[in-house]
Amino acid sequence: MTNPGTYELLNLAQRAGAQAAEHIRQSRYGKDLEIQTKSSPTDMVTMVDKETEGIIKEMLLGARPQDGFLGEESAEVTSNEITWVVDPIDGTTNFVYGFPVFAVSIAARDFSGATLVGLVVDVYHGDCFYATLGGGSFLNNRSIAVSNTNSLSQALVSTGFSYDKVTRVAQAKTLTHIIGEVRDIRRAGAASLDLCYLAAGRVDGYYEVGLWPWDYAAGTLIVREAGGVVGSLNSDQPSQEITVAGNTTIFKELRELLLTDGPSA
Ligand code: IPD
Ligand code: CA
Ligand code: CA
Repeated sequence: MTNPGTYELLNLAQRAGAQAAEHIRQSRYGKDLEIQTKSSPTDMVTMVDKETEGIIKEMLLGARPQDGFLGEESAEVTSNEITWVVDPIDGTTNFVYGFPVFAVSIAARDFSGATLVGLVVDVYHGDCFYATLGGGSFLNNRSIAVSNTNSLSQALVSTGFSYDKVTRVAQAKTLTHIIGEVRDIRRAGAASLDLCYLAAGRVDGYYEVGLWPWDYAAGTLIVREAGGVVGSLNSDQPSQEITVAGNTTIFKELRELLLTDGPSA
């Protein structure tokens, strides 16, 4: 049963997500994107990423000044209350190219670290995925659930690649072990949506090395509330080392396969 206070957080996240998505849609074709690079020459950030994070931060902390904020593009605000974990544009490379898979990701975590609300807006398609702790997962107000695929050999599995060249080459090597064991592989380019697609049964499994909390915070709750499992190789929590997800069976089989490939998966 979801706490009534959680619905207020969801409502605020929905309003911030909708405004952020609208800003991204308006900016996409009208403005110079002012592209800069971050951790590597392939890791881009645009003016729209920064503006959008500003809009979200102002809305959330304007409504709840006591809260904390952990976003990809700005300084962290710490708090003993709720912390908002935000990726203003997840899938920046796709956004820059106009490849239609990019999202706004917003999660609300309490002081114990439990995620109470997860919201991911698929900007191009206007779809809104969301979940509340104990309240189930939804896509545009329709309840969603993970697939019931019961064998890795029949599973459609998504993954992603790091911006770091050395990590990316190691990931490609791991993929050579995975690809023969699954139905097929997808690399859509936005981790938050990879998790939401899993929650909606659009893929059966997902794994990726090197994600940050803003990539997986909202999507993890959405998968779990849709009946799925998210963890890492040796824990039931996703981590920067690796994030693995699936329905119960696919999670187990995928994790076992990745364990045989070591930590560079
Ligand atoms: C990236 C996307 C991508 C994943 C990368 C992330 P960004 O986020 O989620 O799918 O493979 O690891 O960094 O940089 O577009 O916010
Ligand atoms: Ca991201
Ligand atoms: Ca981002």
